[in-house]
Amino acid sequence: MKVYAINGSPRKNKNTATLLKKALDGVKQSVKDEEIETEIINLYDLKYTGCKSCFACKRIGGSSYGKCAIKDDINEVLERLSLSDGLIFGSPVYFGNISGQLRSFLERLLFPYIVYDNNYSSIAPKRMKTAFIYTMNVKEEVMKESGYLSTFNNMEFYLEKLFTKPVVMYSNDTYQFDDYSKYKVECFSEEEKAKTRQNQFPLDCQKAFELGKNLIK
Ligand SMILES: Cc1cc2nc3c(=O)[nH]c(=O)nc-3n(C[C@H](O)[C@H](O)[C@H](O)COP(=O)(O)O)c2cc1C
Repeated sequence: MKVYAINGSPRKNKNTATLLKKALDGVKQSVKDEEIETEIINLYDLKYTGCKSCFACKRIGGSSYGKCAIKDDINEVLERLSLSDGLIFGSPVYFGNISGQLRSFLERLLFPYIVYDNNYSSIAPKRMKTAFIYTMNVKEEVMKESGYLSTFNNMEFYLEKLFTKPVVMYSNDTYQFDDYSKYKVECFSEEEKAKTRQNQFPLDCQKAFELGKNLIK
């Protein structure tokens, strides 16, 4: 069995990556060690673009039918992921949405599996378990009142249609800088952020661990 965490943050050791690693620790604990392999994929290490609308994945009788035909750093990754047992996506929120890098990645992963028939049916080879972890500056109330959730819902809808309904978690009010005194920041209180970091983030880590632990059942 294999479960992947896909890190949509450019930072490999900050909020998103930390929660993804906790989730993979949870996955490891849920299944006997020798039966499960986990891997984190840092998207910002890879060179690729979003979908280029070549439609090779939809061409009748074409050699790339149902597959992405673009040859770059991710075409081999996409194949591996499609046969996995679980996919945990993680993204920092950028301008109220997932990061551009993750969005481009999802275009490439998902579009080849959508059939242009009347039901937009799926030809994904496997319905693996999925999860989504979002990290962001805004507090939970703002996230709920400002339309963030309906934006997130967009990609979650396609994940559910093609694979399975993602288990979702949010980490709010994240600590963004190593040293707030070095940056111009007036809209957030470092003191409040530090408190959230100390009191809430460990709970978020635990939640991510539980998410991973319950993913493969
Ligand atoms: C380009 C950019 C845009 C951002 N936009 C938002 C935003 O719209 N809403 C929000 O709550 N946080 C926003 N943030 C903050 C990040 O989502 C937040 O700090 C996140 O936890 C960073 O994740 P990381 O530590 O894994 O990189 C933005 C950060 C950057 C760099």
